[in-house]
Amino acid sequence: MKPRAPFYITAIIVILLIAGAFYMFVDNFSFLTSTLFLATAIVAILLLLIISALSRLVDAEKFKKLSPEQQQAYLKASKQSYFTWLWNDAFNKKTQETDGEVKVLDHGFDGIKELDNLLPKWYLGLFGITIVYGVVYLIAYSFTDFAHADKEYDAEYAQQLEEIKKHEETTPQATLETTKFDPAKVADGQKVYDAYCVSCHDAGAKGNIGPNQTDDYWINIYQSDEFKNIFDVVWNGSRNNPSMVAFGALEQLKGNQIEAVASYLYDLNQKAKKNADGSAEGKEPQGDIAPWSENAQTELQAATAEGKDVKIGTVAQ
Ligand code: HEC
Repeated sequence: MKPRAPFYITAIIVILLIAGAFYMFVDNFSFLTSTLFLATAIVAILLLLIISALSRLVDAEKFKKLSPEQQQAYLKASKQSYFTWLWNDAFNKKTQETDGEVKVLDHGFDGIKELDNLLPKWYLGLFGITIVYGVVYLIAYSFTDFAHADKEYDAEYAQQLEEIKKHEETTPQATLETTKFDPAKVADGQKVYDAYCVSCHDAGAKGNIGPNQTDDYWINIYQSDEFKNIFDVVWNGSRNNPSMVAFGALEQLKGNQIEAVASYLYDLNQKAKKNADGSAEGKEPQGDIAPWSENAQTELQAATAEGKDVKIGTVAQ
């Protein structure tokens, strides 16, 4: 005869099992406050109380039928803490029942005997848990959204879209009026550039179909400030050449993306090594020397001295 698990342990295990099963079907913890869950838990506890009262009666009857030694052993076992008893019962092979004797099965081969050794109880316990879990899992998987990766993906995707929307509502987009150079956005700007611009302006903006962006020459001059001019061209496109589309006005890029890519191009242009005449490595200069270029006048003089035909651009109205 074995000591029974204290009531509170059985109660905790049963509540956890019920919660586990609810979780599988509901897929979040909102059930914890639901009436159905609470009612199930209360009914389970009431049933457990009844079972525990009945088993105490049964145990008392069984106890009477034990031999004095067995009664002694039972009382000794009951005095231990339940966990100590459980540990010993699970891991000590020699139990009272077998008394250390292991049965030999009545067949053999080549003198090899097969012993009928009991499996350890912790092992059988785990085996039982996997079976119960497997059954609940199978039912939950078949009839609910539990553990369906595609459903979880959809839910997370929808949630992310929601968060992006909220984020965009709270962070205003840059406009031509508000925009300014931000060195912290250069890295993000390069990503935008590599995705939308590199095909025409080439890596490092050295120029291809579109003009070289690292020199002091500009075709489109709409603003007296270099950074704002970049923003303007990317937002409104080129007024002369439809290949350079109005990324902002056509809503292909948002204001903050344009601010980032403009920061990248501005930074690149500031750091680029320029020749005396304002040209730079890459595609040959197109347009006029920009009025904002640091040495516009000096460059002009130097270039004319070399006999080159250069003129200073003016801001288009
Ligand atoms: C389809 C090819 C193409 C793409 C893509 C493109 N551009 Fe352009 N871009 C051009 C051409 C062509 C010009 C010259 C327009 C003109 O002649 O007025 C230009 C001009 C410019 C100018 C003005 C340069 C000047 O000298 O006037 C800027 C700034 C610019 N592009 C930035 C960008 C950025 C930033 C992107 C990416 C968001 C981009 N471009 C994408 C073709 C392109």
